[in-house]
Amino acid sequence: MDKKKPIKRPRMDNPPIGARGPIANGPMHTRPLVALLDGRDCSIEMPILKDVATVAFCDAQSTSEIHEKVLNEAVGALMWHTITLTKEDLEKFKALRIIVRIGSGVDNVDIKAAGELGIAVCNVPGYGVEEVADTTMCLILNLYRRTYWLANMVREGKKFQGPEQVREAAQGCARIRGDTLGIVGLGRIGSAVALRAKAFGFNVIFYDPYLPDGIEKSLGLTRVYTLQDLLFQSDCVSLHCTLNEHNHHLINDYTIKQMRPGAFLVNTARGGLVDENALASALKDGRIRAAALDVHENEPFSIHQGPLKDAVNLICTPHAAWYSDASCTELREMAAGEIRRAIVGRIPDNLRNCVNKEYFVSSGYSESNGAMYNYNPIGVPHSTTLDPHPGPPGGIPTPHSQPHSTLQDTPNHMQPKPESSEVH
Ligand SMILES: NC(=O)c1ccc[n+]([C@@H]2O[C@H](COP(=O)([O-])OP(=O)(O)OC[C@H]3O[C@@H](n4cnc5c(N)ncnc54)[C@H](O)[C@@H]3O)[C@@H](O)[C@H]2O)c1
Repeated sequence: MDKKKPIKRPRMDNPPIGARGPIANGPMHTRPLVALLDGRDCSIEMPILKDVATVAFCDAQSTSEIHEKVLNEAVGALMWHTITLTKEDLEKFKALRIIVRIGSGVDNVDIKAAGELGIAVCNVPGYGVEEVADTTMCLILNLYRRTYWLANMVREGKKFQGPEQVREAAQGCARIRGDTLGIVGLGRIGSAVALRAKAFGFNVIFYDPYLPDGIEKSLGLTRVYTLQDLLFQSDCVSLHCTLNEHNHHLINDYTIKQMRPGAFLVNTARGGLVDENALASALKDGRIRAAALDVHENEPFSIHQGPLKDAVNLICTPHAAWYSDASCTELREMAAGEIRRAIVGRIPDNLRNCVNKEYFVSSGYSESNGAMYNYNPIGVPHSTTLDPHPGPPGGIPTPHSQPHSTLQDTPNHMQPKPESSEVH
């Protein structure tokens, strides 16, 4: 393993463990290199970063596919979920200060090792809350109204001559009003689902052992204090908790027996929460009437493999609940904005969503206290290229005085070619 050279840390006499110092920028220095590790398209990130950094893309699935130049020089990395950075992978990067996960889950980065190496790890929580909540409702409605199966029958050419045939085909369609929806995990998405479900007439209950009392009052929900209570009372169970070391296979043979016979199950959270073997046999014998899964134990998911391959009363989608054109743009803008704040500001003070902040010592200097305008760690203007409308310092630039969300107003195919360079 390479021994790291001591890094020159301007303006920090005794840098804390884990702090590599501010990112060098400005006309006296090379423009810092930011690399998109596991993708090619930088068309949204480029306008946000081009005045402060050089942006490259690697399109790699492992660090062995990443070019030496990126490993040696990149100070910032953007990554989707198709590459994993272990401690050994992180050690290959010689200049890295910040990694931003384009997404909310950071389970594919060794956060602790990154912190020890002085690399801040950030995510983008909240970008697709509405989309995931809407998709969850869509799946719940499909289970209750059997729309997915009925539409498939029509597509296959079935004709419905009269009420008898409709009744036969639509058997199992259920009324929502008065049924109880049980939400496991009342975070951002769980609460958004709860609010939507109330409008459909559900009696909404939730279980979340990590929340203090009171939230049930602000949202007008019923709280239960054990998973068993929730499963026992719910006609439909919807999972919205984070996957952690305590809740792998939260839904298993044992907990399925605690569910109401013939209940529905929806999972748009994480595949590891559900034991798919147990679900397959519960679907087969009708203990669970039908289920809808956006997330799966093994992804990319194939319906032709694994225990669920013969389940008929099952709807599967390809971990797409988060996606809309708007949420994807917002996600990428937010991720690039975080990298920008690291370059023109300070780590960790100017970062909004640093998940390993404890490895860095805050100077008490942040965007919110207004000090950002007074001090730039490298003592040069933030923008090193001519940008007539640079936007707020540390914020996302707003080309031609337009709000940054209009960056997408031009359809993708009409946009200028990405200015990023490909580095394999
Ligand atoms: N399908 C998708 O495209 C997609 C997109 C974004 C997020 N997600 C997933 O959705 C889930 C919710 O995301 P979020 O942004 O609302 O997260 P969040 O952190 O805001 O909320 C998660 C909640 O789960 C609770 N929780 C943790 N363990 C629990 C347990 N064992 N039992 C009950 N509650 C528990 C936490 O206290 C927290 O309130 C996560 O699993 C996330 O990975 C999926």
